[in-house]
Amino acid sequence: GMAEKAGYDHFMLKEIHEQPESLRRAISGRLSNGNSQVILDELNLAADEINNYERIYIVACGTAYHSGLVAKYLIEDLVRIPVEVDIASEFRYRNPLVNDKTLVIVVSQSGETADTLAALREAQDRGAKVIAISNVVGSTIPREADEVIYIHAGPEIAVASTKAYINMLIVFYLLTIYLAQLKETISEEEIKRLIKALKQLPNQVAQIIKDSESEIKRFASDYAEYENAFFIGRSLDYAVALEGALKLKEISYIHAESYAAGELKHGTLALIEEGVPVIALATQNSVVDKMLSNIKEVQAREASVTGIVLSDEDEVFKSLDHTIEIPTTEELLTSILTVVPLQLLAYHVAVERGCDVDQPRNLAKSVTVE
Ligand code: G6P
Repeated sequence: GMAEKAGYDHFMLKEIHEQPESLRRAISGRLSNGNSQVILDELNLAADEINNYERIYIVACGTAYHSGLVAKYLIEDLVRIPVEVDIASEFRYRNPLVNDKTLVIVVSQSGETADTLAALREAQDRGAKVIAISNVVGSTIPREADEVIYIHAGPEIAVASTKAYINMLIVFYLLTIYLAQLKETISEEEIKRLIKALKQLPNQVAQIIKDSESEIKRFASDYAEYENAFFIGRSLDYAVALEGALKLKEISYIHAESYAAGELKHGTLALIEEGVPVIALATQNSVVDKMLSNIKEVQAREASVTGIVLSDEDEVFKSLDHTIEIPTTEELLTSILTVVPLQLLAYHVAVERGCDVDQPRNLAKSVTVE
């Protein structure tokens, strides 16, 4: 009933609004007093053990898999170990290159997903150590894993995951810095800088919701009429674009595709025509000029472009149909901010289309059978 939803129309909207608090819980107790180190007391990983790992596998399903795609960028950049991200139902059936020199990280909100559990067992059979990242304390995956990091998102009721995704990301940020500390692949100054930025993320998420929700709600009604939408981005924005497209598909039933923006010209551009919604994520400074050219490509085909940008100063951004500005942070940490407008967009489009937001057709919160 309304009481459990704390006045919100749906659990999904409640959970989106809970994200600042949920992030704070995940960070709490995991930073040293002077904010100079990440502390993950629950982990039993020695420095020489980390140096033994030649490769990391991140294995998961759905939204949890998308959190792994973000983590690949972070870990490869800061820890300098190659990372493979795999869909659990693929990993378990394909003779993966896993042995005692592999660290396997399985990610599961519920801790009960059958495919992820099977992948965990497969990895352990091959001699790998498995860390579980999960939300539900005492669920099967954390119980069977060698190590557990809980995301502390609190109960998530809506089928479409929001606060669990964002908390998976913050835990991956913490874990990445932690591994980099152990492996000494980043300087103390860099650690301090990242931690400082990380601590601001909860307030920045709150600010995005406050500043952009009414505008998103307004243009969601235009987008609700379309049957197709495209999400484009580069680098970390591409990983978040995949999650944005999934959110829209799950709850609004609009067919949404996500593309690495540089790949558009190799096929997808054929689908872009007048009025088609294109959501362009352009928060990665190192590739923003490339994104501007990709945006021009879809504008030339008269797409209706929404930009998720750091600031709308650039002329190209001024010419977009809609722009949502997100606050500035470290380039590696943007994903937690970028996804918020995409969650709100999916939610308001689904409401506009009269969909059952919290209980989408054919989907379950947790899939415990194959
Ligand atoms: C189901 C849910 C998705 C979720 C996926 C993985 O398909 O509908 O929202 O991402 O399972 O769930 P897990 O609990 O393992 O994170």
